[in-house]
Amino acid sequence: MAQGTEMHICLGSSCFSRGNKEVVMFIREYLKKNHLDDKVTFKGARCMGHCSNGPNLMINDTLKEGVTLTRIEQILEQELARLK
Ligand code: FES
Repeated sequence: MAQGTEMHICLGSSCFSRGNKEVVMFIREYLKKNHLDDKVTFKGARCMGHCSNGPNLMINDTLKEGVTLTRIEQILEQELARLK
């Protein structure tokens, strides 16, 4: 169900140094722009234990690794298309 979509981005230090902050900003903008803020819960999370592959993002139960600014839009398009 749309209401059940949750995204957690790792805010651990390793993911931070790999650019999670820019990704967070992008996701916030994306959700707003596509009117998805009320359908998707987006929160920060602690280290997910996959530091060397970060930035890491959990979408429901799926872990997405290497979520950089260049990849994030495509990932969101793919994962959230059904909610639009
Ligand atoms: S800091 Fe993000 S997985 Fe460890």
